[in-house]
Amino acid sequence: MNACNPVNSDISMNADNPTTTATLLNIRKITLEIGIEHPLKLFHICDNHLAFTDERDNERKQELSKKRRWSFERDTNRCIQYLDEAINYSKNNCDLLIHTGDLIDFVSWPNIETAAQKLGNIDYFFAVGNHEYSKYVGEAFEDIVYKMSSYHIVQPAFKNNLFFSSRIINGVNLVSVDNSYYNFDENQLEQFKAEIGKGYPIILLMHNPLYTKDLYDELIINRKRDCAFVVGCPESLMAQYSEYRYRQQYATPITREFIRYLEQQSLVKAIITGHLHFNYETVLPSGIKQFVTGGSYNGYASEITVV
Ligand SMILES: [Fe+2]
Repeated sequence: MNACNPVNSDISMNADNPTTTATLLNIRKITLEIGIEHPLKLFHICDNHLAFTDERDNERKQELSKKRRWSFERDTNRCIQYLDEAINYSKNNCDLLIHTGDLIDFVSWPNIETAAQKLGNIDYFFAVGNHEYSKYVGEAFEDIVYKMSSYHIVQPAFKNNLFFSSRIINGVNLVSVDNSYYNFDENQLEQFKAEIGKGYPIILLMHNPLYTKDLYDELIINRKRDCAFVVGCPESLMAQYSEYRYRQQYATPITREFIRYLEQQSLVKAIITGHLHFNYETVLPSGIKQFVTGGSYNGYASEITVV
């Protein structure tokens, strides 16, 4: 895979050494102390990258399915197996499943149906990923026009609004925001301000992590990636990005305003994200903790106990 090819190069193409045997979930346990009366157990997964097709999908999509399934699970069926395991574990051990996107790898009949069916019988809260709207993975620049071309198919498969949603549980306000194309918009900022106005402690769910210097260094220096795949990266640190990556990950003024506003809010207790496919913990300059959970296609999950 050519990591520099802007069309085919995507974070999801870098599956971490898929093995041929399914193993148990790799559950990271996190305790978040925010001073709530009744503890809340959240089970977090993301990035399952289901890549099914059937005879209703065209040949191009069926070819894509073969390629992508090989990339994420070789000749196993582990993407769906880990999803089933995670749903079971959450049902038996936690109050709520939270998912931060890329449940599916691209829009196809069986992917959309599987998403609706697997999540249909459980309580969950969802933040959408870039792949939910992907039709052929990397075939076009991902902007709002591209997103809206499959929105009418994708949204009905999920129970909460994909652009912005909130939900109060055990005195904690879970807020999910679509930042899967590396930006926030004005509506989301206004809606987020309204959530702050409610006065509850907030846990934010979003697909793409926000920039922190150590996370940037982890990607660029330690993992030697060509960009950091984060939202709100300072322009000065994007100098070596390709033109495509710069355009993709450049933070608009509203996005920077969203992050500035967010950083000032003591009600925001944590940010839960995915997209990068490895576990990571970082802290924003304001002290807000940000957790990245690794790819569920690889068995990663986080059990977050909020007390
Ligand atoms: Fe992603």
